[in-house]
Amino acid sequence: MRSAPLPGTLSALPTTARRAGTRAGGRARWGSIAEALRRALASGTLQPGQLLPSTRDLAATYGVHRQTVMVALDSLCAEGWLRAEARRGYRVLPPDPALPATERRRRPSFRFRPARAASVAPPALDGVRFPLHAATPDPRLLPRAELRAAYAHVLARDPGPLDHDDVWGNAALERELRGYLQRVRGLSVERILLTNGSQEAIALVARVLLAPGDAVAVEDPGYAPAWQAFRAAGAEVVPVPVDDRGLRVDELAALLRRRRVRLVYVTPNHQYPTTVTLAAPRRRALLDCTLAAGVPILEDDYDHEYHFRGVPQPALAAREQAPHVLYVASLSKLVAPGVRVGMLCGPLDILEAMAQERRASVRAGDAVTQAALADWIADGGFERHVRRAKRVYAERREAALATLARASQRVPLRVAAPDGGLAIWCEWPAHSVLDLARRALARGVAVLPGPLAALEAPSQGLRLAYGRVTPRVFAEGVAILVAEARRS
Ligand SMILES: Cc1ncc(COP(=O)(O)O)c(C=O)c1O
Repeated sequence: MRSAPLPGTLSALPTTARRAGTRAGGRARWGSIAEALRRALASGTLQPGQLLPSTRDLAATYGVHRQTVMVALDSLCAEGWLRAEARRGYRVLPPDPALPATERRRRPSFRFRPARAASVAPPALDGVRFPLHAATPDPRLLPRAELRAAYAHVLARDPGPLDHDDVWGNAALERELRGYLQRVRGLSVERILLTNGSQEAIALVARVLLAPGDAVAVEDPGYAPAWQAFRAAGAEVVPVPVDDRGLRVDELAALLRRRRVRLVYVTPNHQYPTTVTLAAPRRRALLDCTLAAGVPILEDDYDHEYHFRGVPQPALAAREQAPHVLYVASLSKLVAPGVRVGMLCGPLDILEAMAQERRASVRAGDAVTQAALADWIADGGFERHVRRAKRVYAERREAALATLARASQRVPLRVAAPDGGLAIWCEWPAHSVLDLARRALARGVAVLPGPLAALEAPSQGLRLAYGRVTPRVFAEGVAILVAEARRS
């Protein structure tokens, strides 16, 4: 029987195999050669009964060692495509007679069908030189040597953190964070369920408290990732407007009278995205109307410490009249968003239900990171870092406000200096902010346009984050925005 010439498709297909073969590591080399041959076998380019070219020829074709080719061919033998024949080489096997001929040759395909429509992925931000869209902390301020030492210390100790952790999270970190919340936020909690960022905490609350079709009242504009978690639990998000003193609690109270609402999600300390602090009388009214209606509140206090004017208001959860408040916090703004630590606090019985739910999904958190953070906090490094970073952000906030004040002399712009947060909300009454954000992005400036964070609220706002960039970068980004605004 003749030996097969290198099939046409092989000389085309293997370009990838050949490239992978010469540059990539061992597994990738034989894997891509096997894949190229598998395609030729499945498409019928290599016919049953044919002998393949010698392993020496194949090795020369693909530019790899003979041994690499033999590993690829052996894997195809194991899959039932080829048979190795002594002193002849590798022969293409006929189709398995127990299978319909079409089945034997067809590459199997399968289509997964999600039960729910996927939510829209955030836009890619490649090539952004001025990242003014995300109010994340500046990684350059993080004392990474201290963190590295804390990780090293954990790994050098007994291997406990390398085991599965308790579903509640690392006990030492929980203890440290309980102390921190008490000292810095005046919040006394019995337990903290440690989660992978606040997003997991929000999703747990959604899964435990909400059933499909339930209504969740949310701020509009507001925090879309939370809406995503509520919707994933089958709930409907119902907008409540926000003004320059925060959530319109009168509108919420009216909604609660009109409709059965199962949860109210709020960011009272620095409203997302406007950064407005909810006025004290509204806080009392919010607690009262929800308690009277028997509706729990989920309070997201994601950046409590970054309050630059006056003292931060105590969290809703820290008040007497707040037995119905679940409190969520995060280390994303205090350390880094890549360090996935969130905190969920509330009555013990409901936290236990959340912990049970967590067992079924993530099982436990990252015990190594949690143990390292516990050491770092216990040594005082964490609080030292937060104090230092806060001073830098206070200076950047002043500089950013000065930049925007100058910008407002060149274009119509309304800036409300926020008491806190790592971003500034500004309104561009003469422009379409969506269009402006799109054009700025084309020039490397990323900003969050209000409509992307709104359900129904009309928005002419842009959220400009100043925390992670130097004042100069912020000013250059704003100059580009202003130039684009003046062109339209
Ligand atoms: C409103 C709000 N909640 C929570 C977070 C933190 O989320 P996570 O802890 O999942 O990183 C952020 C931002 O990062 C936020 O803007």
